[in-house]
Amino acid sequence: MCGIACYVGPRDAAPIVLDGLRRLEYRGYDSAGIVTFDGAAHALKRAGKLAVLRDAAERHPLPGARALGHTRWATHGPPTDGNAHPHATEDGRLALVHNGIVENHAALRAELEAAGHTFVSDTDSETVVHLIEQLDDGDLHAAVRAATDRLNGAWALVVAHAERPEIVVARRTSPLVIGLGDGEQFVASDVAALLPHTRRVVYLRDGETAVLREDGVTVYDEAGAPTDLREEAIPWEADAAEKNGWPHYMLKEIFEQPTVVRSVLQDALTPDGGVDLGLRVDLADVDRVVVVAAGTAAYAGRLGAAWIERFARIPAHVEIASEFRYRDPVVGPRTLVVAVSQSGETIDTLEAVREAGRAGAHRAAFVNVRGSSIAREVEDVSPLCAGPEIGVASTKAYLAMATRFLLLALQMGRARGVLDDDAVASWTADLRALPARLEEALARRDAVREAVAAFDGARSVLYLGRGTNVASAYEGALKLKEISYLHAEAYPTGEMKHGPIALIDATVPVVALAPDGPLHAKTLSNLAEVRARDGRILALASDGDEAIAAHADRVLWTPRVPDALSPLVLAVPMQLLAYETAVRLGRDVDQPRNLAKSVTVE
Ligand code: M6R
Repeated sequence: MCGIACYVGPRDAAPIVLDGLRRLEYRGYDSAGIVTFDGAAHALKRAGKLAVLRDAAERHPLPGARALGHTRWATHGPPTDGNAHPHATEDGRLALVHNGIVENHAALRAELEAAGHTFVSDTDSETVVHLIEQLDDGDLHAAVRAATDRLNGAWALVVAHAERPEIVVARRTSPLVIGLGDGEQFVASDVAALLPHTRRVVYLRDGETAVLREDGVTVYDEAGAPTDLREEAIPWEADAAEKNGWPHYMLKEIFEQPTVVRSVLQDALTPDGGVDLGLRVDLADVDRVVVVAAGTAAYAGRLGAAWIERFARIPAHVEIASEFRYRDPVVGPRTLVVAVSQSGETIDTLEAVREAGRAGAHRAAFVNVRGSSIAREVEDVSPLCAGPEIGVASTKAYLAMATRFLLLALQMGRARGVLDDDAVASWTADLRALPARLEEALARRDAVREAVAAFDGARSVLYLGRGTNVASAYEGALKLKEISYLHAEAYPTGEMKHGPIALIDATVPVVALAPDGPLHAKTLSNLAEVRARDGRILALASDGDEAIAAHADRVLWTPRVPDALSPLVLAVPMQLLAYETAVRLGRDVDQPRNLAKSVTVE
């Protein structure tokens, strides 16, 4: 969604802020803008990609050592130059950037127009700058606080005035992180924009405001009193969010997965072959697990629920976060609610976590971004250890989530006495071998590149899986849809004959997940039904599977692993299938249309 990058200090601010916006491009946006201050205000806003704004910036001077920058993902009003941020007062001297939605903007707008303010955009955000102007008697911080008292909704606000030396920020729900420099300060919607400058950060909490000046930062609590800075260090290297020679972030992140799994295992395995995710909850006392998540994270949650039921023998299911909070869910003190989120900022998941808290559940979170809103909301945090994920299509975070769920299932199984030490040690030994298996799967990229020809001219692609790999099929189909724009649908293989088999013809290729395991023979029977109807099958099968050839037009071979681990290995060829298809079709792999990396509006 929208991105914010701002600077105050001694340096020329525009290049710093434009580079910060470039680092936030992955969040998804459709217009961009910047304002700089050198006693006067200099603003530039453009619909379209950041390159358009950068081209314009080469022709328009943007002097000043303070700047606010923004990439907008349109909600109220189309993506035009005028609707792009920053929004400013009529004289242009007071300006702001805003992420979030002001829900009472229509009433405020009517009130402000009646008081003589002239609006020039369709946005909810413009309301806020007029409101601050109305309330400003020379103390910008006080005016911002007074204005936010009148707002309903969500905001990350950054405000500046041409004649005042500071930048004022305010936050409710939408994320904001302050970067502490040496004689210069930064603020951004996420740490990716800060990494080249500083790894010392302060995550602003809900209701807090802050004043940033060249020589320091003051944070104020909800009541307006100065509060501790709560400085934290970002654990990521500065170049972790760079492409480093890869053509796309997505491909780089797919190939980082063996390293990510090693990090997850290093974080969670004990020297004696046990598992300790560092959770405070008494896992032996939990009687039910509910996973709340969205998109890919929810599919990782489906894997998790299946593993928890298998290894810990307690009921577990996944709920789509946007539904959970509105259906008065039945959870109680012995329910463990696990929120899963790469960004830690997905608003649907955050609100589901809050709902679970109101219902009295113990809440744990698997998040990739430390200090994120979800991480701060819950009782227990288990970091994903995936490093920054920039590609909009989630890959390495998915594998980190899935691996962590398998580890949780094993730890829970041990805590409940379903598994003994030897069983856990045997599974963790298999997990230790997983990174090598992933490397083997990645080494087969050429075979995947050849296989995607099977999708040429396809009307739709059907993904089929059984058992745990039903979740893998859903994730594979989502990956293909979101970056290639080909329609794809997933089904449990055995459910085909109850309806979707009507779709089968030569223009609907079928990706069949058929790894070795207890359901292999059943899967082959289902595939025979597809073949009998002229279906075209691309099978993902385990090395050495002699039976599969008779049931598929083409086979992608995957390294043989114990059946519980097959979803982790199958993820690689499915990610590559989506990637190679998108490249073949000339799609924008890292920033697919209409999508945002972190979905911070409902
Ligand atoms: O940051 P989160 O993990 O909470 O994001 C959840 C979904 O928005 C995300 O997984 C989305 O589905 C991705 N585009 C999938 O590739």
